[in-house]
Amino acid sequence: MSSPGPPKSDFRSDTVTKPTAAMLDAMVAAEVGDDVLDGDPTVRRLEERAAEWLGKDGAFFVPSGTMANQVAAGVWARRGEEAIVERSAHVLVYEAGALGALHGLQTVTLAGERGALDPEEVRASIRPDYEHCPRTAFVAVEQTHMSSGGRVVPLENLRALRAVTAERGVALHMDGARLPHAVVASGISAAEWAASADSVSVCLSKGLGAPVGSIVAGDSDFLVEALLVRKRLGGWMRQAGVIAAAGLVALESGVERLAEDHALARALAEVVGGRAGLRCAEIETNLVEVAIERPDLDGPGLAAALAEHGIGVLALKPGAVRFITHRDVGPTDVERVSRALDAILGR
Ligand SMILES: Cc1ncc(COP(=O)(O)O)c(C=O)c1O
Repeated sequence: MSSPGPPKSDFRSDTVTKPTAAMLDAMVAAEVGDDVLDGDPTVRRLEERAAEWLGKDGAFFVPSGTMANQVAAGVWARRGEEAIVERSAHVLVYEAGALGALHGLQTVTLAGERGALDPEEVRASIRPDYEHCPRTAFVAVEQTHMSSGGRVVPLENLRALRAVTAERGVALHMDGARLPHAVVASGISAAEWAASADSVSVCLSKGLGAPVGSIVAGDSDFLVEALLVRKRLGGWMRQAGVIAAAGLVALESGVERLAEDHALARALAEVVGGRAGLRCAEIETNLVEVAIERPDLDGPGLAAALAEHGIGVLALKPGAVRFITHRDVGPTDVERVSRALDAILGR
């Protein structure tokens, strides 16, 4: 059976963006080398640029956000140790059990409030230094926090968490897949956000629009170990400058542009949230979560109905659908949503 292909108006994720002409030009022109044997000059430039942006000693380019998070997990924890994670975080729910499968870790899951973990709950969850207990190795936070609606986890919260973890010798990892969105929404620099964590991952292939790649950054001790873990995970690539070149364009020209995605998300929320039985929470970044409060419709039903109108959304929770805005959707796609809802809800 042939696949119907991507929807005309694709709000399923910001991962669907296609490389821009500037990215393709940079890819063709990229100076490359064997990154394992000699170092690839374009990868090096991207890593240096990312480290500078994040205010960390260094950064590594890896193929995916999942690998970036798993490199950090492998640096901070040994088999039989424990990680404290927010219970709906990507690293727990959508990385195919990698914390256990790859690193032999067990997890303590805590419920966040709009993505923010309670520092006192974290303090109470860090295991005592007692030979019967696993060692608590790290705490993972997600910025922006996706399952609560693309929320920006407040800087004071992250600083308070860091104070608790540092006091107990526990690392704090930030899954900053969409940290650039938090930078734009808050006006707080990437380096300030990153200073609240020991390691940070950032995706170049989400809102920033690169076709492939993520960054994992930290300070010198972290980097020594991260090089080994990246190697073990198969993430040390060869002439990866071809893709790093697009990543550089994404990092240099993609961040400020995210303000347009945030504005489009607000416009979309007005169009959708104005309908009877559909409710949108306040928009902070590029995610519009629509709660469905109608007896005739649930998340999968609305997603399927929108798909018939050429609109892609995800129904990750039973009573809701999620729209994500990005560079490859615009006002005409929002108009298509409006017309589709007229047809769907009016029938
Ligand atoms: C919050 C978060 N972290 C990590 C990832 C993993 O990124 P990748 O799909 O590149 O592995 C994603 C992907 O959507 C994400 O949303």
